[in-house]
Amino acid sequence: MTLAIIAAMHEELSAVLDLMPDERRERVAGREFWVGHLGGQAVVAVLSGIGKVAAATTATLAIQRFGAQALLFTGVAGGLGKGVRVGDLVVATELLQHDMDASPIFPRHELPLYGLSRLRTDAAMSRRLLQAARSVAADAARVLGSDARAAFGIATPAVHDGLIISGDRFVSTSAESAALRRELPDALAVEMEGAAVAQVCHDHGLPLAVLRTISDRADDQAHVDFSAFVQHVARSYTVALVERY
Ligand code: ADE
Repeated sequence: MTLAIIAAMHEELSAVLDLMPDERRERVAGREFWVGHLGGQAVVAVLSGIGKVAAATTATLAIQRFGAQALLFTGVAGGLGKGVRVGDLVVATELLQHDMDASPIFPRHELPLYGLSRLRTDAAMSRRLLQAARSVAADAARVLGSDARAAFGIATPAVHDGLIISGDRFVSTSAESAALRRELPDALAVEMEGAAVAQVCHDHGLPLAVLRTISDRADDQAHVDFSAFVQHVARSYTVALVERY
């Protein structure tokens, strides 16, 4: 059974590759797929690219060309839910494309011809990911180090599970995140790829789990927080999570 590990950021992918003893690179469609093992598990690791189409193409290739039979997505996201703070970890139970709107022909957010707007992640994989996330959060002092925790104001990170929403927009104003909260009050976090990968997995009948670390609050400060977080924190979280998954 081959597991695809799809990372949104270069910093996260390099953390995964450092844990793969035998990785071999194959280039397809402008993407580098790394084939090998991680803790005895056959793995193909790849960068998702940014946005829904890039991520869907990457997921499709991982399945069709590299035989992935389960997919794990890791990346950062903007926090939307009340109490979802920078440094928290969110495991998706469901994913939705917040910019899908074929109304009035189909209800807003519904995937046309699927009869669904929310796609569920795999329960067993998500449970395992949640356990790994809780273990990392409990050990955050060691995983992140005191400088990074102080710089980002991360005390003990919380772990959440629930709805993650995706769209082809970096949400970088408080007005836009407030609008998303009004529209989808149970959304915990917003990013740009997860729900597209969920659609590909749905089409292929394959299991998916998605974990996002909160890099910003999807507000007027988001672009600054995002860049600093990716540079200083994302890698440490990914190493710890992959080791514990
Ligand atoms: N990924 C991380 N932060 C994000 C944001 N604010 N909007 C969309 N995707 C993100």
